[in-house]
Amino acid sequence: MRNTTDSWWRSAVIYQVYIRSFADGDGDGTGDIAGLRSHLSYLAHLGVDAIWINPWYPSPLADGGYDVSDYRDIHPDFGALDEAKQLIVEAHELGLRVILDIVPNHTSDQHFWFQQALAAGPGSPGRKRYIFREGRGEDGSLPPNDWHAAFGGPAWTRTSDGQWYLHLFAPEQPDLNWDNPEVRAEFESILRFWFDLGVDGFRIDVAHGMVKDPALPELGLPEFCVMPDEGQENHPHWDRDGVHDIFRSWRAIADSYPDRRVFVAEAHVRPGRLAHYLRPDELHTAFNFDFLKSPLDADKLRTVIDRSINDLAAVGAPATWVLSNHDETRHVTRYGRAYTGVTTRMRDQGHPSSDRTLGTRRARAAALLMLALPGGAYIYQGEELGLYEVEDLPESVLQDPTWERSGHTVRGRDGCRVPLPWTGDTPPFGFGPAGSTPWLPQPEDWKSYTAEANQADPTSMLHLYRDALRLRRTNAGLSGEEFRWLDSPDGTLLFGRGNGLLCAVNLSDEPVPLPGACSPLLVSEPLDDNGLLPPDTTIWLYED
Ligand code: NOJ
Repeated sequence: MRNTTDSWWRSAVIYQVYIRSFADGDGDGTGDIAGLRSHLSYLAHLGVDAIWINPWYPSPLADGGYDVSDYRDIHPDFGALDEAKQLIVEAHELGLRVILDIVPNHTSDQHFWFQQALAAGPGSPGRKRYIFREGRGEDGSLPPNDWHAAFGGPAWTRTSDGQWYLHLFAPEQPDLNWDNPEVRAEFESILRFWFDLGVDGFRIDVAHGMVKDPALPELGLPEFCVMPDEGQENHPHWDRDGVHDIFRSWRAIADSYPDRRVFVAEAHVRPGRLAHYLRPDELHTAFNFDFLKSPLDADKLRTVIDRSINDLAAVGAPATWVLSNHDETRHVTRYGRAYTGVTTRMRDQGHPSSDRTLGTRRARAAALLMLALPGGAYIYQGEELGLYEVEDLPESVLQDPTWERSGHTVRGRDGCRVPLPWTGDTPPFGFGPAGSTPWLPQPEDWKSYTAEANQADPTSMLHLYRDALRLRRTNAGLSGEEFRWLDSPDGTLLFGRGNGLLCAVNLSDEPVPLPGACSPLLVSEPLDDNGLLPPDTTIWLYED
């Protein structure tokens, strides 16, 4: 039974659809709305509560769609607005809520506002919608300050008339000026546009970066950082208090609709700061990057879990849990490495070797851990199939702007964005019609990772996710918010939820006994011959 209550979002499992790579209905090699519509029943059967669709708006795709040129339409490669409307209706009929991605920190450089700003010249009202400045040095040929851009190079690009504009990401993604009331009004209108079409919420891109210190002071850092460094109390472009005013006005818009509309923040902030975004009159939830980045180590995970739940409980918000997304190395690959956490420089350091069998085993254990924790959870498309990161894509096909902007030294995020395998023994594996060529090549061995192959194997990752999601829906102990730690051996985690439900995770090197007087409900790997829980295994149990 689906959660139809007003507070569905507090425990929702949300499936991330990276639309370019989900399913290609028209055979042009790019995923699209037609492909998504034809797989909605797969998602309903998987047992998720909602889908979050990565940007599907018109865009030159300089950053995979995070460079939006029109916020009220659909990219022609993905379909048309009418199809989007049908998708929303069909998803709702299947009990799936629909969350879109909104990109308010920057537009595309092809957005008509930016084109207007370039044409109108220095000092014009058009330029005040973005962050234009004169350069430094006698002839203004030096950027206005020392800020770095996410994908490499300075955060400033010079225009033909000599002024510079700010872009925290690629030069094709100029940052908006959120001190300008016109920018605020425009985004409020965009939210209403999609809410009126029935979307249930938004994931807010770079929520922690929208407001800048207008003085644009120097940072004095050697490279771009996704969040303020320890000790940087008043960072000039991350996590400034001014963002909260914006989110309060967005919340008022969401709350003006009779049924619940929700926001989830992508906010990379220092420990303790996330709760500010989730105060009762601001956003509903936020991604838990601390959990995603944590090594699979019992003590470290216990600390992250405690901090996540407790910090957010102080403002009445639920925690969320996530293992992978379209920006990070897929966790099957991460967990097969010697170091299982995410370091910010991981992608620069080449590819540490990864044991895929071990990574898969750990991914199964992590999935049952994540889905047993109280609060919401995010599944990145393909993790339910056990997909790994494709680390050997030919250089000629790489599309992440990081590749070009790092002077071909950092390959970027394409390896987690390879189109999904659905059926059959050869590419495109049902991603598109036979004979079509997916926009990134799929590995040959993905024939054993297709949804079809997973379906045929009762021990597959897909069956594990389906079983876990079914139990989450049918077992009140898992959908509530009750949570308590219980004593367990070193290197393991043991916690209780409502209704006598327990979850035990063995991250040590030795098999451990199950807690006494319990019946197994679901296990990520079989128990050993002595009935012990093997290393890298999670079990859900009932207290007898
Ligand atoms: C975060 C998104 O997840 C990422 O894919 C994108 O490149 C940046 N924001 C910039 O929009």
